[in-house]
Amino acid sequence: LLATSPLWASDAGDWSQTSFRPLPIPELISGEAQADGFHYYLRARHGETEFYPGQPTATMGLNGSYLGPTLQVRQHEQVHIHVQNDLSEATTLHWHGMDLPAEEDGGPYQIIQPGNAWTARYTVKNPAATCWYHSHMMHQTGRQVYHGLAGLLIVDDEHHRSLPLPRDYGVDDIPLILQDRLFDDQGQLSYPDRMDDHMVGMRGDVMVVNGVISPTFIATTGRVRLRLLNAANARAFTLAFSDGRHFDLIATDLSLIEKPLTLETLMLSPGERAEIVVDTLSTQPFTLVNLPVPSTYQAHFGLLSDLMRELDTQAFDVLTIIPPAAAVPAAPALPAQLNDIDWLPEQDASYHRLIAMQMGEGQGNGGKRGGGPGARRERGGWGGGKHRINGRMMDMNFIEASIVAGTTEIWEITNDSPMMHPFHIHKVHFQILDRNGEPPGEDERGYKDTVRVPPFGRVRVIARFSGESNPHIPFMFHCHILEHEDNGMMGQFVIV
Ligand code: C2O
Ligand code: CU
Ligand code: CU
Repeated sequence: LLATSPLWASDAGDWSQTSFRPLPIPELISGEAQADGFHYYLRARHGETEFYPGQPTATMGLNGSYLGPTLQVRQHEQVHIHVQNDLSEATTLHWHGMDLPAEEDGGPYQIIQPGNAWTARYTVKNPAATCWYHSHMMHQTGRQVYHGLAGLLIVDDEHHRSLPLPRDYGVDDIPLILQDRLFDDQGQLSYPDRMDDHMVGMRGDVMVVNGVISPTFIATTGRVRLRLLNAANARAFTLAFSDGRHFDLIATDLSLIEKPLTLETLMLSPGERAEIVVDTLSTQPFTLVNLPVPSTYQAHFGLLSDLMRELDTQAFDVLTIIPPAAAVPAAPALPAQLNDIDWLPEQDASYHRLIAMQMGEGQGNGGKRGGGPGARRERGGWGGGKHRINGRMMDMNFIEASIVAGTTEIWEITNDSPMMHPFHIHKVHFQILDRNGEPPGEDERGYKDTVRVPPFGRVRVIARFSGESNPHIPFMFHCHILEHEDNGMMGQFVIV
């Protein structure tokens, strides 16, 4: 994975002569079949990665120097994922999006000390989806993910295999792990221990895709499926193609959507995934870009430093696509119907839970529960970097919710700050009911595990909390801006 890529100078003019950094495809691991299921082996380690030629950058990776392989798992099958920690520090590995018991979740409770190993064993319940794995070490998640402890976990199922969708991994089914990064003048990843701007989350000025700066993909088929993962610590991306071409959305975080949806732009906040299918036929290369729109602040720019404000609205070339050279056979049309989604009716919910995401000085723990705009003003602004949920910074000794297995709940998530927070719940797949009272976008009508909660806004989601789980081990819910998560914007629930 991610061998050193040469950085050629790009020359304008005849594009067929232009040199580029090729898009690396993370190795696909389908597991070793044994009598008790499929076994996967991951080894977390320190390494060096040349993002810039001749300039080794200290990084962390799984089975490689930066990021990790793509694990392919199949619905209904038993998996055993063996994680060896060869780092000099403790870590965890969380299966983001996977429906599993708390003891296998890889959150802050399943710590792997240096030199130790941990095995997650579970039966895959999820339907086909693009999930991922990443460090979830308490207070260290942001730094560890920033240095490379993340990878993709792709679930396949029978229904998915029956559809005429591109699914030749690395050929017409292309994973794209999207991250922005900031390098210092030594070529090292800049992740200061204490940073005032942690309040808004770590941003970068360079776009890194599958571990390479703004790479290029040479298409060999007339259309490709892109599995997009926003694995940035804090930046939301607004994606579009440089020539304005349309594309079809086929999947959200945790499922295929019902019908392909034609789009021109797509927003993806940290933790979210989307799968799109794009026609590659063109006389010119074209580029997937991040549009220079403010990604997370819709108002109140006053709280940002100049650097962060500039970084937030940065345009990036994400991936250049070179169309197939020779004539390629026409691809079959996308299926009109991709999936049947069982929409949970609101009346099924037996509990309505309020979750207030809060930033600012506050009173620390024990403050007024619930918060709200009034409470926020009393506390005197958004400075100070205290991130809370329901008035409380993350506390491993406090359980916000004890949910009886099988219960359906509506969670109403409010945001009393001037920036967007992507809210994530472990284990469950939820459906978005509404955002600020309006139905969710067409591009959000599938199973989700992460949802954008707009500045001073509110979102309602509905989910069934089911399955066997150790009632003494909590699951997390949190803001997926990793600096917010590390600094307190996280809470816990158990399924009993
Ligand atoms: Cu992507 Cu708590 O996780
Ligand atoms: Cu998760
Ligand atoms: Cu946040």
